[in-house]
Amino acid sequence: MKSNANNLHIGQEFNSWINKYTDTMVRLVPFYFQLMEDLRELLPEDFDPKEVLDLGAGNGNLTSRLIKWFPNAQYTIVDASEEMLTEAQQRFSLTIKTEKGMMQDINFPKQSIDLVASSFALHHLPDLEKRMMFEQMANWLRPGGYFIYSDLMIDRSSKNHEGLLDDWKSFVLQKGTIEDWKWLMDHYTQYDHPACERDQVKWLLDAGFHDVQTVRHDRYWVAMVARR
Ligand SMILES: C[S@@+](CC[C@H](N)C(=O)[O-])C[C@H]1O[C@@H](n2cnc3c(N)ncnc32)[C@H](O)[C@@H]1O
Repeated sequence: MKSNANNLHIGQEFNSWINKYTDTMVRLVPFYFQLMEDLRELLPEDFDPKEVLDLGAGNGNLTSRLIKWFPNAQYTIVDASEEMLTEAQQRFSLTIKTEKGMMQDINFPKQSIDLVASSFALHHLPDLEKRMMFEQMANWLRPGGYFIYSDLMIDRSSKNHEGLLDDWKSFVLQKGTIEDWKWLMDHYTQYDHPACERDQVKWLLDAGFHDVQTVRHDRYWVAMVARR
């Protein structure tokens, strides 16, 4: 699958967040760490993956949790931002493979992965590319493997989108300024393509996943698991 040319500069956008990335996410994204922690709750207690892939791993905040949960697995992390990948690699003592590039353009052998994880990254893909990524993941995962996924899940065309923005703005203004909110909305307008939970569940089922389950903390901030 070829990534959308309009999105090719997403890596540069996130290069510019480096040094302030985690603080920025905590301030601007409701349930940022909570939605990662929830992903463990959605997996069976005895799940023991050997090969784990983190898509759009950023500076490794989800990867660090995965390593704690599954210390014996091998890790590959993918990101369009070189700076993010470098920071991620530096924080772990174990060796992790990194793939710099658009996740839409990478490939792995069929049934070679036990767990695909992604937090707050797939909303950067237009809907058609999300659907195609779900198909790719279904292909890479071994039967019985899992995809765990946290993100904002709402259509911009939803009648509730304005309400989401009002709630989100209140959240940001608790710790930040109106300038933070304006900056975030510029990023949201330019780089983000959120899709609603219902559509994404359907696309996962269409791609061959089973038992899609979701946990919702606020109306549209969602943690989701799907079994291959
Ligand atoms: C909001 S950050 C999330 C990072 C990390 N998963 C987290 O939860 O903190 C989104 C990350 O996805 C990466 N990204 C966005 N679109 C991508 C794509 N199409 N292929 C690879 N990486 C992408 C960005 O470079 C950025 O590091």
